[in-house]
Amino acid sequence: MSIEIVGYGLAQAEQAVTNTELSNTVETSDAWIQERTGIKQRYFSIHKNTSDLASEAAMMAIQDAKIDPKTIDLILVATITPDGMMPSVASLVQAKCGLNEQNCLSYDINAACTGFIVAMQNAQAMLEAGFVQNALVIGAETLSKILDFNDRTTSVLFGDGAGAIIMRRSSTKKMLHYTRSEGDLQGVLTSDGLALNPEMQINQYSSHFLRMQGQAVFRFAVKAIEDVITKVLQQTNLHVDQIDWIVPHQANRRIIEYVANKMNIDLAKFYLNLDQYGNTSSASIPIALSEMKTKGLLKEGMRVICVGFGAGLTWGGSYFES
Ligand code: UT7
Repeated sequence: MSIEIVGYGLAQAEQAVTNTELSNTVETSDAWIQERTGIKQRYFSIHKNTSDLASEAAMMAIQDAKIDPKTIDLILVATITPDGMMPSVASLVQAKCGLNEQNCLSYDINAACTGFIVAMQNAQAMLEAGFVQNALVIGAETLSKILDFNDRTTSVLFGDGAGAIIMRRSSTKKMLHYTRSEGDLQGVLTSDGLALNPEMQINQYSSHFLRMQGQAVFRFAVKAIEDVITKVLQQTNLHVDQIDWIVPHQANRRIIEYVANKMNIDLAKFYLNLDQYGNTSSASIPIALSEMKTKGLLKEGMRVICVGFGAGLTWGGSYFES
């Protein structure tokens, strides 16, 4: 069975913060951040929580798809920064967007920066099984909630935002996914803070701040992207020259340059917007897709590979035809 994406949306958080502005609060510089990552600015949310950004992106995707919102019967939100432990952000989106059909199911997915790929894979499985007709798939984050602004090795890298798509069955357009995880390496990228019972608190320091061993994640990331592109090309029986766009998780420009060089792929085939958004984890791929749609870069029938990688460790990719 085939699957198509019929609508795209995004939401920017309210406040654009430049590298130079950040350097007033943490010991860093615009030159260091740009040279080591390619990031120029990021958006931070002031008053909006993850479900607010997710709902904005969802409404834009629904409008773009020109479908009756009542026909949406699955809402998936990929996030690592939910509004709370429960209910899910997806349930909050359902309420905020007025999608309260009795036959609609909503739930969240946590696969960190691979979350949107995993959510698309879940949605495809539900669509193909015939359980649902129209899936609203969102990646949304307010990472500023878990950044330690005394830690220059992480606070300069991340931003807030949301992106959304509408997926449904198609008669012609192919979609497939490849997803993996490696739990033994979970310690290199973490955010531990949950309420612990007193017994546990004695043994374990718990902080919600995001911590990352940057170089270890960099080494993992370049291997993960190569693995994903190779496997997805094998599954589709296509050569990379037949792919129009590669849309990677937007973590670091140097990671993408390294992979492009190693795999001998033209850097121009990779869509990059991390200079404007920084790393928005689960939101980075759908924000990029929505931007591409708005700019007219996703033309009918184009072949696209999306690549995610991040905490877990998790990695994976999606192939689709626009
Ligand atoms: O979304 C999940 C996936 N995440 C990623 O893919 C991130 C992967 N990792 C990276 O992108 C890079 O490793 C970083 C951007 C996090 C770091 O870049 P790096 O080139 O690996 O830098 P480094 O960690 O080797 O640090 C080099 C130096 C250090 O100083 P010394 O020890 O050489 O004196 C750091 O303390 O740069 C220093 N440094 C900074 N200096 C100014 C680290 N952060 C900063 C900063 N400003 N913000």
